[in-house]
Amino acid sequence: PRVAVIVVAAGSGTRLGADAPKAFVGIDAHTILRHALRGVFAAPQAQVVVVTPADRVGDATTEAHEAAGDRGDLVSVVAGGATRQASVAAGLSAVWPDVEIVLVHDAARALTPPEVFARVIDAVAAGSDAVIPVLPVVDTLKRIDADTVVEPVDRSVLAAAQTPQGFRRAVLDDAYRDAAADHTDDAALLQAAGTVVRTVPGDERAFKITTPADLDRARGLVSPIPP
Ligand code: C5P
Repeated sequence: PRVAVIVVAAGSGTRLGADAPKAFVGIDAHTILRHALRGVFAAPQAQVVVVTPADRVGDATTEAHEAAGDRGDLVSVVAGGATRQASVAAGLSAVWPDVEIVLVHDAARALTPPEVFARVIDAVAAGSDAVIPVLPVVDTLKRIDADTVVEPVDRSVLAAAQTPQGFRRAVLDDAYRDAAADHTDDAALLQAAGTVVRTVPGDERAFKITTPADLDRARGLVSPIPP
């Protein structure tokens, strides 16, 4: 296919405080990674590259093939790196030559609905080089200096960035080849390289499981994976 989804799942999950790497923590009977992959395989067809800790490549391969069903030919699994950016770079190196659109998705956004993938793919296919799903910021925001408020920040000009983030493959390859600094998402890397980044509506269900409270929220929202 001309689309690939890189699912980054190589984080340690320190802030979650579990005894396994985050993607391998259970939401219900199934892991964060397994739920994330359900969403990926319900989205428009794509090569699926899963990036995991080096000692979890076997487990991730099993889960990816379960999620893929009879589309196991679409699955690649590679070991990640010390930072998210290094993990994305590892995933990019496994993307097939004929792929033109690459999505990068956090496994930790395990309950992301398939429609978000479709919106991002459509926007790149329609001509944007870089597209991210965003949500309005709901909290009142302050700029602070230690324990003192410096000034309020106008939230109407801000948005919260989610994944999957989608890119024209050639633009993403170029940005990664020339990457100097480390960035917390791919849109920041591309923006630093001068690419215009567009937005599409995100989805509240695409929240990132980071803390124990996020995991509780996911447990309350999840629907079971059929046997
Ligand atoms: O740590 P954080 O939740 O921001 O990580 C976002 C995503 O990036 C997670 O899905 C995590 O597994 C992934 N990641 C990675 N390799 C790293 C660090 C994070 O694949 N070294």
